[in-house]
Amino acid sequence: MEIVELDVAMVDARADELAQLLLDAHASGMALGLAAPLTAGRAAAEWRSLAERADGDGRVLLAAIDDGVVVGAGHLARADAENGRHRGEIQRLAVRADRRGAGVGGALLDALVLRARAAGLSLLWLTTHADTRSDSFYAARGWTRTGVVPGWSQRPDGERVPNAFFYLEL
Ligand SMILES: CC(C)(COP(=O)(O)OP(=O)(O)OC[C@H]1O[C@@H](n2cnc3c(N)ncnc32)[C@H](O)[C@@H]1OP(=O)(O)O)[C@@H](O)C(=O)NCCC(=O)NCCS
Repeated sequence: MEIVELDVAMVDARADELAQLLLDAHASGMALGLAAPLTAGRAAAEWRSLAERADGDGRVLLAAIDDGVVVGAGHLARADAENGRHRGEIQRLAVRADRRGAGVGGALLDALVLRARAAGLSLLWLTTHADTRSDSFYAARGWTRTGVVPGWSQRPDGERVPNAFFYLEL
């Protein structure tokens, strides 16, 4: 497996494979910031818009490719706030459903953290639906769980659910 940085052309070439990651996430009850019902077109457009804003310096889109196929992806977004340029958010970390539990997500997260360090960021944060596999995934990787905000976002089934918030000092 290799982890590569995606640009717009690569996202366009692999639109279906990337879209599948977000469709699989929705099928697992994880919205990743996107409202249901999620279509392949909307999912592909989301990756494209992230690639369009990528700058290689705190805004980076990474994909895990195995046997020539995208099996996972994740996004690092440096904060836009003038006084928060040292801070970044991990977004849209998703692994294909049939490849979960084999280290792909962990490898992507490690790579995103390395890219954040290389860009000079000193603080990362993220949020995910509380009490999910993803919630324990970050807790097991040294991220500090600051707490839970009730009713933060809608799950794909339409229910408004609490989210857990995490940070990692670099
Ligand atoms: C959360 C997610 C990115 C993790 O990716 P992954 O490739 O499964 O992660 P890893 O294999 O590196 O680690 C998964 C952990 O769960 C365990 N696990 C076991 N079986 C598993 C399975 N079938 N599926 C997922 N995790 C499993 C792994 O052993 C590992 O345990 P550890 O934390 O003690 O190391 C992935 O499950 C996913 O895409 N979920 C849906 C989208 C989502 O929730 N994204 C996060 C939103 S912020």
